[in-house]
Amino acid sequence: MSHLFSPLKVKDVTFKNRIGVAPMCQYSSEDGVATDWHMVHLGSRAVGGAGLIIAEATAVSPEGRITPGCAGIWNDVQVEALQPINRFMETHGAVPGIQIAHAGRKGSCARPWDGGTHLKNEDGGYDIIGPGDEPFDSDGVRLWKVPRMMDQADIDRIQTAFVDAAKRSLDAGYKFLEIHGAHGYLLHSWFSPLVNKRNDQYGGSLENRARMMLETVDKVRDVWPENLPLAVRLSTSDWDENGLTVEDNIQMAIWLKERGVDFIDCSSGGASPTSRSSIGNKIGEQIGIAGRIRDAADVMTMAVGTITEAQQAEQIIASGQADFALLARQMLRDPYWAFHAAQELGIDSKQVIPAQNAHFVG
Ligand SMILES: Cc1cc2nc3c(=O)[nH]c(=O)nc-3n(C[C@H](O)[C@H](O)[C@H](O)COP(=O)(O)O)c2cc1C
Repeated sequence: MSHLFSPLKVKDVTFKNRIGVAPMCQYSSEDGVATDWHMVHLGSRAVGGAGLIIAEATAVSPEGRITPGCAGIWNDVQVEALQPINRFMETHGAVPGIQIAHAGRKGSCARPWDGGTHLKNEDGGYDIIGPGDEPFDSDGVRLWKVPRMMDQADIDRIQTAFVDAAKRSLDAGYKFLEIHGAHGYLLHSWFSPLVNKRNDQYGGSLENRARMMLETVDKVRDVWPENLPLAVRLSTSDWDENGLTVEDNIQMAIWLKERGVDFIDCSSGGASPTSRSSIGNKIGEQIGIAGRIRDAADVMTMAVGTITEAQQAEQIIASGQADFALLARQMLRDPYWAFHAAQELGIDSKQVIPAQNAHFVG
């Protein structure tokens, strides 16, 4: 029996297997509105057999986009563009998920293939916000823009934007909601001592730095239906002696679980230039952390980071390190990765891919 291909029921949602497509920015939206690219990008991975597909970091407000080409969910036009994509994925057996996000001081960038550095407002950029007013980069070259330090009115506005985004996500047809609390973007930047230097009730102690994330999650949980799963992606380590540790994130996972969060998606890095990048982590490192958080916080976890092989993913689930294996770059190499993994593990592919394909090649 395969653990990777065993279904998982969480609340009213049944995932046909434990393979998820990790959220991946596509930089291909227009005014935050999904395009044909998204239908093919997400739809092909649904046809490829993944049980869960988490759409890219989708901004809750215009200045919350990483780049002007990033996805948004702050208006109804954006919702309407997402509906047919989600209908397609669900029809063909994948649970449609979304990651709602605010980029904080890492917003207003050029697309990666255009250099990825901050854009001046006259070149299509926008003003950015954060827990403080320090730019991400001190060299003044890459992410040089100075964020505006958020006050209580900003905090209220952003939390309301997350709530509205959760409501719109439901209207768009998503059955799984993930809050982006990782990679140095807004919510992580409030939690990390590398960024949050405030001395009010949102800064200082671990409890105070956690407040922005926890208040936001509380408000989102109030509007996201009880019968649908909720996840939070964390940067489970800042990889910096002055930053967040795995232990800090175990505490955060305990607090999140108490608030009705079903999954902790265990990523890492991204808070500052001294931390590691959120993509280039060492093989297996984040997976081990997912296991530690699963045990210590007694919460379901998602493992991510350099998962490429069927046996490797099978082992992650079988060993109890995580409840889901999420793949990002390997899904770009092979949208049919789940189908190929099923073949390798000797699973009847009719359980994995739609009949249109399975009937002929299963
Ligand atoms: C093109 C690309 C876009 C990404 N966009 C996001 C994103 O929107 N949200 C997020 O949390 N992580 C994002 N990531 C990180 C991935 O979700 C994943 O955590 C990371 O790539 C490690 O997994 P991998 O080794 O399977 O690629 C992105 C990664 C890539 C390669």
